[in-house]
Amino acid sequence: MENLKKTDPDIYNAIQGETRREQEKILLIASENYASKAVLEAQGSVFTNKYAEGYPHKRYYGGCEYADTVEELAINRAKEIFGAEHVNVQPHSGSQANMAVYFSVLKPGDPILGMGLSNGGHLTHGASVNFTGMIYKADYYGVHKETGYIDMDEVKALAEKHKPKMIVVGASAYSRTIDFKAFSDVAKSVGAYLMADIAHIAGLIAAGIHPSPVPYADFVTSTTHKTLRGPRGGMIMCKSEHAKAVDKLIFPGIQGGPLVHVIAAKAVAFKEALEPGFKDYQKRVVSNAAKLAEGLIKRGFKIFSGGTDNHLMLVDLRDMSVTGKEAEEALDKAGITANKNAIPHDTRPPAVTSGIRLGTPCVTTRGFGPEEMDEIADIIAAVIKNSSDGSVISKMNDRVKALCDRHPIYK
Ligand SMILES: Cc1ncc(COP(=O)(O)O)c(C=O)c1O
Repeated sequence: MENLKKTDPDIYNAIQGETRREQEKILLIASENYASKAVLEAQGSVFTNKYAEGYPHKRYYGGCEYADTVEELAINRAKEIFGAEHVNVQPHSGSQANMAVYFSVLKPGDPILGMGLSNGGHLTHGASVNFTGMIYKADYYGVHKETGYIDMDEVKALAEKHKPKMIVVGASAYSRTIDFKAFSDVAKSVGAYLMADIAHIAGLIAAGIHPSPVPYADFVTSTTHKTLRGPRGGMIMCKSEHAKAVDKLIFPGIQGGPLVHVIAAKAVAFKEALEPGFKDYQKRVVSNAAKLAEGLIKRGFKIFSGGTDNHLMLVDLRDMSVTGKEAEEALDKAGITANKNAIPHDTRPPAVTSGIRLGTPCVTTRGFGPEEMDEIADIIAAVIKNSSDGSVISKMNDRVKALCDRHPIYK
């Protein structure tokens, strides 16, 4: 990065600082990952210079022959991974992917039914502060107060009462397997479209270790970062009958020129996802999450719903003397990055919460396995139980550093 160092030392130093942070801390944010060097190189390429409004071979600019190549490769690889009839790789983010789907078949004021934000759903599933909550008449299903699982009887009853035009299934903080077929049955029974937002679990689905919604949902949206381990961005998969409407909504509907450099990086990530090692990686993400949950339960912690089937878990701190906010801050001092998260039916405000969300995509990418998961559980337990004891935090920080030194990122 010699050019950057000379031109803009402030940004250069921030990038160096972020690289150190990602190396020296244990990242347990469930929605993050370390993209490969190949993904980073594609994203940092000359395609950042290119305007390519339109779609392959139907562009509004000249000189798009190489942009066409990368976009076609990204589309074809995504189709191969997920078995989708149609793929759009242009959404700049997961939120824009969702916006395009809503706008393609709904009118303002239409009823939608999504998972409530406080129960693990995403902002774009109808939250009042989001465009979805402002434009549509949103109602919400949640998880069962006792079991922590989605209650399909509740979903069905709400669908029958609310008569949504669109049901949204998918979550940002749900640790159990999602029954997409059951959602599809409910959607069909009330004449609603089904959109599955697989942003969190796309990598698991790509590897075939979580059931896929592609056969059942009218629309499947995703981010390409998170478990899929690509660049920050979004994508839409849909049945052929919706292809034209979706493409038109992304461009010219809600976006201008596609980010060709990001699409190139998406194509690289998709190639990586088709390699045999990817399935093994996803299996380890899931087994590491199970091991981390087991380690925390062994040390007296409650995991919401009793455990995890996927890459994340919600640690329920309601019986402990710390809030989610305090736990997040204490863990950060010890070198562990995680986020406070509301526990479904939480009585504390969202800025405080009674839980933390932990995920294993990052630590698995850097090569941590079951032994490290147990050690991380031990460190987390010591930090949370001694959150105001500086000497314990400092000792735990030494253990975090030793673990990270043994498993460098971007070797
Ligand atoms: C389920 C789900 N959908 C959509 C998004 C939005 O993605 P983005 O942040 O790229 O807009 C997220 C991000 O956290 C998510 O968890």
